Amino acid sequence: MKNIDSYTHVRGESVYLDDIPVVNGTLYAAVFDSPVAHGKIISLDINEAAGMPGVVRIFTASDIPGENQIGGIVPDEELLADSHVHFCGMPIALVIAESEEVARAAVKKIKAVIEPLPVITDPREAKEKGELIIPPRTFQIGNTTAAWKDCDHIFEGRTETNGQEHLYIETQGAYAVPQEHGAIRIYSSTQGPTAVQRTAARVLGVAMNQIEVDTTRLGGGFGGKEDQATTWGVLCALATFHLKKPVKYSLHRMEDMRMTGKRHPYSSDFKIGLNKGLKIIAYEATFYQNAGAAADLSPAVMERTLFHCTNSYFVPHVKATAYSCRTHLPPNTAFRGFGGPQGMFVIEAAIAKAAEQLHVPASVIQQKNLLTTGDEFPYGQKADSEATECWNRTDELFDIQQLQQEVASFNASNKLYKKGIALMPICFGISFTKTLMNQARSLVHVYTDGSVGISTGAVEMGQGVNTKMLQVAAKIFSVDPARIKVNTTNTYRITNTSPTAASAAADLNGKATEIACATILQRLKQVAADELKTSADVIEIKNETVYANGKKTAWDWNKLVMSTYVKRINLSELAHYTPPGIHYDATKEKGHPFSYHVYGTAITTVTVDCLRGIYEVDSVKAVHDFGSSMNTMIDMGQCEGGIVQGIGWMTMEELVYDKEGKLRSNALSTYKVPDIYSVPKEIIVHPLATEKDNLAIFRSKAVGEPPLMYGIGAYFALRNAVKAFNPAADIPYDAPMTPEKVLMSLYQTPVL
Ligand code: MTE
Ligand code: MOS
Repeated sequence: MKNIDSYTHVRGESVYLDDIPVVNGTLYAAVFDSPVAHGKIISLDINEAAGMPGVVRIFTASDIPGENQIGGIVPDEELLADSHVHFCGMPIALVIAESEEVARAAVKKIKAVIEPLPVITDPREAKEKGELIIPPRTFQIGNTTAAWKDCDHIFEGRTETNGQEHLYIETQGAYAVPQEHGAIRIYSSTQGPTAVQRTAARVLGVAMNQIEVDTTRLGGGFGGKEDQATTWGVLCALATFHLKKPVKYSLHRMEDMRMTGKRHPYSSDFKIGLNKGLKIIAYEATFYQNAGAAADLSPAVMERTLFHCTNSYFVPHVKATAYSCRTHLPPNTAFRGFGGPQGMFVIEAAIAKAAEQLHVPASVIQQKNLLTTGDEFPYGQKADSEATECWNRTDELFDIQQLQQEVASFNASNKLYKKGIALMPICFGISFTKTLMNQARSLVHVYTDGSVGISTGAVEMGQGVNTKMLQVAAKIFSVDPARIKVNTTNTYRITNTSPTAASAAADLNGKATEIACATILQRLKQVAADELKTSADVIEIKNETVYANGKKTAWDWNKLVMSTYVKRINLSELAHYTPPGIHYDATKEKGHPFSYHVYGTAITTVTVDCLRGIYEVDSVKAVHDFGSSMNTMIDMGQCEGGIVQGIGWMTMEELVYDKEGKLRSNALSTYKVPDIYSVPKEIIVHPLATEKDNLAIFRSKAVGEPPLMYGIGAYFALRNAVKAFNPAADIPYDAPMTPEKVLMSLYQTPVL
């Protein structure tokens, strides 16, 4: 089935925040944000700005009626800076004006005197100075200290992965509209409507039931609107609270890039030990996460780095420690993969280093160490592994050795162009690692005309979750999908929602929808049974027709629905779902945090132009574990998008903050994301279709984040291509591998 939004998307009719018709009298907001990364506010002069025609009010921290606090996990982040600023882009004052233009013009007239304080941008320096967001955490299995003596080869190294701008097409924004009795409705481009609601209530000092958050869809979130949409929703609500007027703020691209956090950069150390047979015996890693100025989601992101530090390999002795380091960058946040990709990069670098030193292809080491069912992850869960199945199927379909030989023979016969190839197996755990967040609700109504309305906590952001919800209802009721409508995500209809994140939205909300529909269906069947003088267990509804004992009856969906209503039986259901069997004990760092894992293997081939350092990704060929996909078109789209986004992170997207903590890559002219010319010339994704029982909705495994990690293969393929040209190059494990870095590595030490 097609994505239900495809028709309105291509016609430009889909409604995003900026398309909501504004109410008469709507005012516009703009933020005055800190020009320095760390300092003490000595004075703030808003007089000239406040006197401009069209300016209605300027709010500062002192106008906050409740708590000036938006921190979700750790209460360490002010909505508006009070006495100190902690990052360039930190909101200090909120201008409200009659138009967007006036609001932004007034921002330019605000003058702040800020006494500069020392700025830290490097996570290792932050750690040295004791600037940690939370205490460090260590995951351990076996005993690495004792295991080194059993290793024939030991390699150590250091890696860097840079951050990544989310670049959702729709920028952050919100629109707050006053309601009666002091309530406020906030239209918010957020992945977490409840986070906006809870935080608005806290900041305004009102009860959560006074705040209604409504989200139709996002023009992309990618994690960037899990927590960081809250600021804008709450700022608009603050102005609405005081002025009793509708207030809208839709950020300009450069405001968004400057003021919001991104994927966490990491600096890491590794030590890997292998035996003669190339089995990995021991692995140690230390992760320094650049959290930025406040916790935001950093502790949870750091945790997932640890969960995925061994990627899809079994290692009997592991010790991994992570530090969440407070720097003066905007608070970094969720980004597709949520710290997992950063953890995986490090073990892939360790394997690549071992392979280079031992003169074997990395794929040999990778393959020998893949997880098999029953293997234990460092956090105690046992794998139900598809890792070898994915790898073997990749080999069957694409012939790894032959592809490697093709690359080698190309390189033997070409001087100025070199190809590189790399394999990237992945393993990604599905569930929120914070166990309590794994819950969802769905409200299903059947109307008397037989049409169906669904509301869930899931937010549509292009990933097709609404289509999947619709499919669930259509399948359980066995009715025409055209009868079903998926409604906006609204905190008055569905409460206490977990954000749409962790790739778990379709599973959690889909299962809740399945339960709600099944409950209503059971009532319908009972009515049919009573009418047909039989029992409910022999009743079936197939394609809108009622069957009894496998035989067609004269009853259809419409008649059955109407009779159920006439009998005064409930045609609505609010269902709750929480996955069974997951638990985690953070005091021991052991448990069973994930409902299941998603596996896959990708082969990436690149060609480097060794005169200019530019490159192309020739192909990404993958076998991906979809379980049994409930929507192949959507799931393939998620794979293609994820792969390209991952390649962007690993190759061309270069985030640059200067020593003063100012973002230099602050526009699309200085920050390059993949365009149609830089996507791989060929992307082939084969499903590893399994009918295995798992906790996914209709056994269709979560697909949102895992494919991004195939992109890591592009980094190692480029590295291999450079090595083919300049075998002596000592290339740091430093991503992204931009054309500049490629060029410098190609000519790093004099070659002929
Ligand atoms: N796909 C699109 N088109 N747009 C997005 O913003 N976000 C990704 C992924 N795929 C995203 C996307 C992220 S970060 C997550 S966690 C999942 O979708 C969330 O949706 P799901 O739980 O329904 O997979
Ligand atoms: Mo996705 S990073 O979990 O929003």
